[in-house]
Amino acid sequence: MTKIYDFKENIDNNKLEEIAQEIRNGKIVIFPTETVYGIGANALDKSAVAKIFSAKGRPSDNPLIVHLSSKEMISTVAENISQIEQILIDNFMPGPLTIILRKKESIPQNVTGKLETVGVRIPANRIAQELIRLSGVPIAAPSANISGKPSGTNISDIKDELFNKVDYIIDGGNSSIGVESTVVKVENDVVKILRPGKITLEDISNLGLKAKLDSNIFKKIDAGQKVESPGMKHRHYAPNAKTVLVNSEDYIKMISKIKEIVDENYKLYDKICVIGFDEHRKYFKNVEFISFGSVNNLNEVSKNIFKTLRLLDKNNCEFCVIEGVEKKGIGIAITNRLIRACEYNVISVK
Ligand code: TXA
Ligand code: MG
Repeated sequence: MTKIYDFKENIDNNKLEEIAQEIRNGKIVIFPTETVYGIGANALDKSAVAKIFSAKGRPSDNPLIVHLSSKEMISTVAENISQIEQILIDNFMPGPLTIILRKKESIPQNVTGKLETVGVRIPANRIAQELIRLSGVPIAAPSANISGKPSGTNISDIKDELFNKVDYIIDGGNSSIGVESTVVKVENDVVKILRPGKITLEDISNLGLKAKLDSNIFKKIDAGQKVESPGMKHRHYAPNAKTVLVNSEDYIKMISKIKEIVDENYKLYDKICVIGFDEHRKYFKNVEFISFGSVNNLNEVSKNIFKTLRLLDKNNCEFCVIEGVEKKGIGIAITNRLIRACEYNVISVK
């Protein structure tokens, strides 16, 4: 039976100590971070790590991120840190950044999907930091969701999927960022973004570093294609409903294209939904409209995006058209998740 502890108002230190002890004993725990919730286990204990893969139904070639509570801990899991990697560590940790580093022997192979590298992150969330610190071990943790589903950003969604598949759930309220960390790898002195997130290309370039987006971020990955971040090739974020993303730099054109698609499909499905900006609700009177936030606040959209995608299944929606967001700042991360939620079913209107 899963034990649920509510730390939304304040952290109960005795209970947190109990959970930290159980992490050392090989138990698995859902805990909050500032990006999304994670399912954590002692990264040095391969049987505990195996339990995470089975709880999520996760493919074994998809490596887990190792979470630490301090920069000093990095040298216990990774080695040969380059100058550029150190600059990233100094500027963005703790925070929503994962760096792929060369792994130490101590990290079991099932954590990294047999790769020679390890993804390292220091979450800024206080509960996460305290949990790792009290456990005294690095914590391997993927996002808290069944593999292929949107990442868990609140306890109600997480309980629906994972209750009784883990030993503890810590409720720390809604995730403040809402999309997963930016994953980067330094290659030939260039910082390559393998998964976009809150820390953007501009944030990295502003440090005077060369940075680029991996070419697979907006592209469909073919079966058998080799990718640097194995998570990119697996089906992800997709609701049961058939979904289409409509992108345009011109909102008027985007809205009229969406109306056209809704009209074309009206007779084909029992329930059609549109997901989009609150300000655009007034244009969609004849379908169920679900807002993901304000047109002027992409941070709000980022916070709501996974909860909103889950609502499609909860509301038994069969077909859904989603408004695209500006591909700038956190909009790049949102677009990457939406493209994958739509399984690359994207229409761009010029
Ligand atoms: O914000 C986050 O990163 C959340 C919270 C819980 O920290 N975690 C998360 O983990 O999103 P997960 O497992 O859902 O996604 C990890 C991503 C996957 O795309 C995986 O392929 C990539 O990071 N990754 C992990 N280790 C890697 C490695 N050694 N080389 C390349 N990619 C790696
Ligand atoms: Mg995930």
